[in-house]
Amino acid sequence: MLLGSDLSLLYVAAGVILLYIIVQVYKDRHLRSIPAVGYTIPILNWVTCIQYIFQARELIREGYEKHQSTGVFRIAAHDGWLIIVANPQLVEDVRRAPDDTLNFTEAVMRSVQLKYTIGNDIADRTYHVDVVRNALTRNLNTRFDDIRDEIQVAFDEEIGAGDNWKELPAIETIQRIVSRVSNRLFVGMPLCRNRAWVQLNIDYTTDVAIGAMVLNIVPTLFKPLVSWSLTKLKAQRQLANKLVGPIIAQRLHDLEEHGEKWSDRPNDLITWLVEACPPELREVPLITNRLLVVEFGAIHTSSMTFSNVIYNLVSNEEWIRMLREEVEHVVAIEGWSKIALAKMHRVDSFILETQRVHTIGMLNLQRWTMKPFTFSNGIRVPAGYQIISAAEMLQIDPAHHGGRATEFNPWRWSDMRAKDAGSLKHQMVATNSTLLHFGHGRHACPGRFFAAYELKGMLAHLLLEYDVRFKEGERRPSNMEFGPTIVPPQVQLEFKKRRDS
Ligand code: HEM
Repeated sequence: MLLGSDLSLLYVAAGVILLYIIVQVYKDRHLRSIPAVGYTIPILNWVTCIQYIFQARELIREGYEKHQSTGVFRIAAHDGWLIIVANPQLVEDVRRAPDDTLNFTEAVMRSVQLKYTIGNDIADRTYHVDVVRNALTRNLNTRFDDIRDEIQVAFDEEIGAGDNWKELPAIETIQRIVSRVSNRLFVGMPLCRNRAWVQLNIDYTTDVAIGAMVLNIVPTLFKPLVSWSLTKLKAQRQLANKLVGPIIAQRLHDLEEHGEKWSDRPNDLITWLVEACPPELREVPLITNRLLVVEFGAIHTSSMTFSNVIYNLVSNEEWIRMLREEVEHVVAIEGWSKIALAKMHRVDSFILETQRVHTIGMLNLQRWTMKPFTFSNGIRVPAGYQIISAAEMLQIDPAHHGGRATEFNPWRWSDMRAKDAGSLKHQMVATNSTLLHFGHGRHACPGRFFAAYELKGMLAHLLLEYDVRFKEGERRPSNMEFGPTIVPPQVQLEFKKRRDS
């Protein structure tokens, strides 16, 4: 039997719950015009939050298919309502919206839990974005030979196969190659080959990503503790400072001493960051952190994309033959050059098709509403919500990509290019409202020109120099998924050096 004090405790608890529900319903009243998938009633919608962690695709697909007429729907996620855009015209609304209304940085700050992972100093001034967009992309031609050299050496050392088949874990091997090749451009020799530096950049990216996922579901009060106990980010930053700090300090010194007349400046990301850095931020740990944030944007995305590319490649021998034929033909005429990579239309198409069908994120184009935002169809989203696009669904929708949109057709884009000569819109660096693998608009990935260069260079090199296959009797296993994040599975691959290469 309940005693009087137990009974009053029960009343208090029921009162608190009721109050919580009333406050939430009142808060969400402006969202009523946006249809929801899953539960909308506060507390009950925690069921949907959990479902979103383990079955995000089912929820997103349901919303996408049911709410095409509205073009937008919402799902209760662990960090609040997600307003998901399902229609290309509304994606264009998001693309066109100014930063003071739909803000990319604010959305990233929240989803990556910047304060507890990378650090808020990154978001205050985003000069690294311009550096990647301008100096880094501009220098791809002049640094071509270095990147090509690193691709050769990294494949030799990380794969190191001879005449016999050699078994290697795909993801780890690819991560190390990508980290080395990217770092040849970012920090140059010899640091790009330093084992500790290469591994640090892989681990840092993983730790930020995992840390952010967990921190997103932890109450604010416990976030510092969770960040400290769950991730090794602080130690990783210290190691980064130890490894790259002296180089940055020297560059700062050289810039101070020579200014504009610094003629023999190394042509790499460290120099470009040091030069672009506002004077008040010219401190070694801050620039190290800035470098790490570019590594974070570059290494994981490129490694996961390349893993998907290889898994598709080894699934079909005819595809390997056709790609090899193109690479051999182009290299015989052009040699290894940026122009040669530009002429590899099948290689480009294969990677783009992989990104379309085997994307690494179900949702993309995240923005935070700084002010109320009204879509062109009249749907209104109040300030303080996350708007994001149903990238994967848009990319495999027959309405936008033809009857066989869900199928992987490696020559989809090279065939279109052949019919539509000169058009840039079928290349992997192109973005549009139904191809969101690099985002779209003002914040579309500024590193995509380098990514294309690197991925195409690595794929072409692999095709000419190696035979690669799954282990006997194995096929591509399913991807791993956590919320909307998709991670290609760990697989053992077998490599053999080609005799006639
Ligand atoms: C296959 C590889 C890559 C993929 C799939 C990818 C994807 C993306 C996506 C989806 C965005 C957000 C765009 C938006 O919401 O409109 C983005 C932003 C960004 N990416 Fe990439 N990325 C890749 C490689 C790289 C590389 C190699 C770098 C650096 C060299 C880089 C640097 C950045 C930066 C700095 C931003 C932020 C842009 C801004 O603040 O405006 N990414 N990337």
